[in-house]
Amino acid sequence: MKAVIIGASAGVGRELARVLAARGHELALVARDLRDLEAIAADLRLRHDVSVHIFADDVAHPDCDNLRDFVQTNLRNIGALFMIAGMVDPLDHGQMDDDDLEAVACTNFLGPARVINCLLPFCGPDTHIVVASTIATIRPRGRNVVYGAAKAGLEHYCMALRHAYSLGLHSVCCYRLGYIRTSMTFGQELMLPAASPERVAAMMVDRLGLSGVCYFPRWWALIGTALQLLPWEVFRRLTY
Ligand SMILES: NC(=O)c1ccc[n+]([C@@H]2O[C@H](COP(=O)([O-])OP(=O)(O)OC[C@H]3O[C@@H](n4cnc5c(N)ncnc54)[C@H](OP(=O)(O)O)[C@@H]3O)[C@@H](O)[C@H]2O)c1
Repeated sequence: MKAVIIGASAGVGRELARVLAARGHELALVARDLRDLEAIAADLRLRHDVSVHIFADDVAHPDCDNLRDFVQTNLRNIGALFMIAGMVDPLDHGQMDDDDLEAVACTNFLGPARVINCLLPFCGPDTHIVVASTIATIRPRGRNVVYGAAKAGLEHYCMALRHAYSLGLHSVCCYRLGYIRTSMTFGQELMLPAASPERVAAMMVDRLGLSGVCYFPRWWALIGTALQLLPWEVFRRLTY
């Protein structure tokens, strides 16, 4: 299979690259830092003897023309597209600087939607689209205000694509991920246990073919239902 990973240089994306290479899949890795990508690609080629192509791009403002050329030249068709890149802003809890708001919105919604849109011509009935969403979309809350809104928009976009291409894509899956031990959560006190990026990556590859909005770990589905059912007077007092 030929797999594209957007956000492949760290955390979940880098682990996905490792898991897929270990299983012999050809890879195209995208992130902003070319040197990081070069180092990861060289290591994967050496360890697993697979083809690894790299493309440096900022998903917030994607260079769609060159990204299309890159995929056309190196892969031609995509077996799995993993949209993993994302970012949070510690000041995203109310009024914020306009540029910061744009960065969070573009990195987590508009940019990913533009990338998926520009790569759709390389996708077909065998293609899986897998997206990293978040438990922050369960119910709007006062932390990660723009991040949650952007990821909710991305989920909606992907589920609408799933409907539009019900025969044209194999699967479209958005994972509402709980806490993961990566640079995104580094130094934070987390209320609930965090998964390793290795576990998340292996799960995403093992469950290729699953469609819809899914939780990982699965017990977050129970918490999600409880959060949705909480009366407003109780919910508004929560600071999670
Ligand atoms: N960590 C968590 O607890 C958690 C929980 C729920 C959901 N998630 C979601 O899971 C996904 C992966 O998170 P993670 O913890 O693995 O993040 P991470 O360790 O911070 O890695 C993020 C990856 O995305 C790339 N990236 C970030 N901004 C980019 C941009 N503008 N253009 C291109 N690439 C960009 C980064 O590379 P460069 O910086 O080199 O570009 C890096 O490869 C994210 O979508 C996140 O929202 C994470």
